[in-house]
Amino acid sequence: MATPDDYLRKDWQMVRGVPVVCAFSFNWDRIDNFQSRPDDIVISTFPKSGTTWVCEIVDMILHEGDSEKCKRDAIFNKVPMLEFAVPGKMPAGTEQLAQVPPPRVVKTHLTVDLLPKSFWENGCKMIYVARNAKDVAVSFYHFDLMNKLHPEPGSWDNYLKKFMAGWTAFGSWYDHVKTWWNKRNEHPILYLFYEDIKEDPKREIKKIIHFLGKDLEESTVDKIVQNTSFEIMKDNPVTNYRMAPSTVMDHSVSPFMRKGLAGDWKNHFTVAQNEAFDEDYKKKMANTTLRFRTEI
Ligand code: PPS
Repeated sequence: MATPDDYLRKDWQMVRGVPVVCAFSFNWDRIDNFQSRPDDIVISTFPKSGTTWVCEIVDMILHEGDSEKCKRDAIFNKVPMLEFAVPGKMPAGTEQLAQVPPPRVVKTHLTVDLLPKSFWENGCKMIYVARNAKDVAVSFYHFDLMNKLHPEPGSWDNYLKKFMAGWTAFGSWYDHVKTWWNKRNEHPILYLFYEDIKEDPKREIKKIIHFLGKDLEESTVDKIVQNTSFEIMKDNPVTNYRMAPSTVMDHSVSPFMRKGLAGDWKNHFTVAQNEAFDEDYKKKMANTTLRFRTEI
């Protein structure tokens, strides 16, 4: 039987043209054949775009702001990641989801094409969270440093080139955000931006409440805003990933809850890197109406 070591620091594996985490790439039938429920709520993102934040917000909405109920388990058990797997060592996301009482909240980083058909067929509600590419690149670089299921990122300069080429887990940020953006024209997808939530969390949380067809008291919404602030979530063992196995995540290298800012990229990009990035970005994003803010 495989040990977790077999999956540490391994390069991405291609699944139908998309690079994915090696440990997740086996027995892909479990993903393709996954059966959704019509009341499943999918939270989809390109990694490092505010997934954990919105997962906790949705969990709090479903539990009407009861922070004690929301402390029942770690975020990665309350809201399993569909494609997660470390064969022979940890339960796969698909197995975890089978145990979660409905309505299930399903986290995924899958591309539109890799998401199991059943979610589209059942018309499941989906929330997509997007974050500007520069902050995602910085956050992902630090995550690759601390998450041993990912290959070593190498130097920042080289990593940024790989990011621009789409050689990151779940492929090209550019394709991911654009294809999900287009998909919202034909499916119930609430498309949110990290920067908007940062700017006015209450406004954006109300959008989610409305989308989920809930009606919460103003004081409950205020409680959700407060309990999902970066500072509270960084200290909360349920949301800060300190409960994840230390063989996989080393928070001493870089904490999962790192800075939680819009615009931190300015502390990492050189002038030359920024110019090259902007030039390439213009080309890759020329064919979309999608617009991002790189600061607020
Ligand atoms: S993952 O691994 O893809 O699920 O990561 P994800 O949760 O999408 O992204 C992690 C980044 O989101 C930041 N974060 C937050 N920012 C603001 N407020 C809150 N409450 C919050 N929770 C998580 C987290 O700090 C990571 O960003 P960086 O820039 O690395 O700090």
